[in-house]
Amino acid sequence: MNGPSYYSLVFLVLMSLLKDLHVFCGADPTDGFTPVPLTESNFELQKPCDVQLEERYSYENGVHRLWVYADDKPHDPNSYTQPRTEIQIGGLDYSSGVWQFQGYGFVPNGTSGTTIVQIHGAAHGATTLILRIYNGDMRYYSSDLVATDLYDKWFRVNVIHDVDGGKVTVFINGIKNLETKDQGPGDLHFKCGVYAAPANISYYMESRWRDIKIYKK
Ligand SMILES: *[C@@H]1O[C@H](CO)[C@@H](O)[C@H](O)[C@H]1NC(C)=O
Ligand SMILES: *[C@@H]1O[C@H](CO)[C@@H](O)[C@H](O)[C@H]1NC(C)=O
Repeated sequence: MNGPSYYSLVFLVLMSLLKDLHVFCGADPTDGFTPVPLTESNFELQKPCDVQLEERYSYENGVHRLWVYADDKPHDPNSYTQPRTEIQIGGLDYSSGVWQFQGYGFVPNGTSGTTIVQIHGAAHGATTLILRIYNGDMRYYSSDLVATDLYDKWFRVNVIHDVDGGKVTVFINGIKNLETKDQGPGDLHFKCGVYAAPANISYYMESRWRDIKIYKK
């Protein structure tokens, strides 16, 4: 078999393979979600209680830069928690439904033992999700490896919390890297920035964030 019909058959087969490939690659974590409008008032900042915000945070050219030192004070003088400089997505606390956080993060080489993304709140305990950087790798709390080799580059983070289904899914650069049970419904909200882990903390901790979006289903 040869001639035009052979080639058009090959062409059609190739096209249908490419189409499947496209559908496969084209799936995006935000498919089927609706963006929730955000204003500046949704970005609530927490920083060590004895310093000015400008000493631990800047916002330039659409990039939020947050940093903290291991010997900084907690965000609240009555708190015994670890030091943090974090953006809390305020005014959008949720306790049901399916919610999604999206942001592009950047962690400079050297920052370690640092939570960069949280879902705060849970039925039991303080948090539903903690994503930490240890030596350039991202872990779920201090255990499961979520992604590797993240220093000094922008990476996309999508976190989907299906409260009704009791499930949290994390995508790094569009790839599903973690799926885990949540900790039950609570007064829930997303956070990003730097929050010192209980152990193995670098003295200086920094993360940068841009294009932060919240979606729901
Ligand atoms: C991070 O910095 C250390 C010390 O300067 C260096 O050895 C290492 O290769 C750097 N890592 C990356 C991913 O650039
Ligand atoms: C801290 O680092 C030490 C030595 O590098 C390691 O043995 C220990 O497991 C680490 N602890 C945590 C909580 O990661």
